[in-house]
Amino acid sequence: MNDAGTAAAGITLRPAAPADAMAIGAVFDAAVRAGWSYLGDLAAEPMFTPQDWDQLVADHLPPRVLLVAVGEPDGIVGYTAVHPEDGEMFLLFVHPAHAGRGVGRALLAAAHDTLRAAGCRETFLFVHEHNERALAVYTAAGYRPDGSDRISDFRGTRLRELRLVKQLYAGTHSRLPTRDSTSSDHQPSGTRPMFMNRNRKQADSAATTRSQARASNSRTLRGGVHHGNDRA
Ligand SMILES: CC(C)(COP(=O)(O)OP(=O)(O)OC[C@H]1O[C@@H](n2cnc3c(N)ncnc32)[C@H](O)[C@@H]1OP(=O)(O)O)[C@@H](O)C(=O)NCCC(=O)NCCS
Repeated sequence: MNDAGTAAAGITLRPAAPADAMAIGAVFDAAVRAGWSYLGDLAAEPMFTPQDWDQLVADHLPPRVLLVAVGEPDGIVGYTAVHPEDGEMFLLFVHPAHAGRGVGRALLAAAHDTLRAAGCRETFLFVHEHNERALAVYTAAGYRPDGSDRISDFRGTRLRELRLVKQLYAGTHSRLPTRDSTSSDHQPSGTRPMFMNRNRKQADSAATTRSQARASNSRTLRGGVHHGNDRA
């Protein structure tokens, strides 16, 4: 597992500790304010409580992984989380004051290393359809849309997220856990975005498992995906 190492210049990656919870929340709030303007007023105020951030860290004890990027003098400047049990690249946030320096790319590479070390051959994530910067970062890292999406209601705002997938090994053939290209998950109204909602996560895992069974029986990803590992 790549649980520590050098990222961008002056930045070190390490597993999160309980004492990091508030700093993780602060990075989230700043990144959302700067980057999620498509959410309007929702992005202007903190979305989650200190207890939510404590819970996030508690939810990412091994075998899950939550890595923080740390720099001086600012402390935590970004983080990523992965779920090896289903291969999800779950969180990626960088403080806007440190954006564009390669921290996100380094966190993403570490997330992929972690998933590989856990035996995952492919990974997936959900990203808001209008999150152009994140879409560019993920595309550069080798993710491609699998044609499915997830629709939900967050405090009265409709969210549509695209599901992206990536092969974690070069030359791996393209049998991916894709869903039927016409299908969507339409989620009922809730108070949290999907990445903080554990019940919903369980539902997604079940849906993905069902689609994996369908995919392995009948489909391959259109066009195939052949990418090198993240060092490229
Ligand atoms: C997405 C995010 C994590 C990227 O972090 P970052 O540290 O700024 O990214 P990096 O500096 O490592 O850049 C990664 C790549 O994206 C490119 N990139 C950087 N800024 C970009 C921009 N504004 N538009 C398009 N591409 C951009 C870089 O050129 C780099 O590509 P390269 O590796 O070919 O040079 C960060 O912007 C963020 O936290 N956004 C808000 C939270 C969010 O939306 N997270 C994703 C939720 S699904």
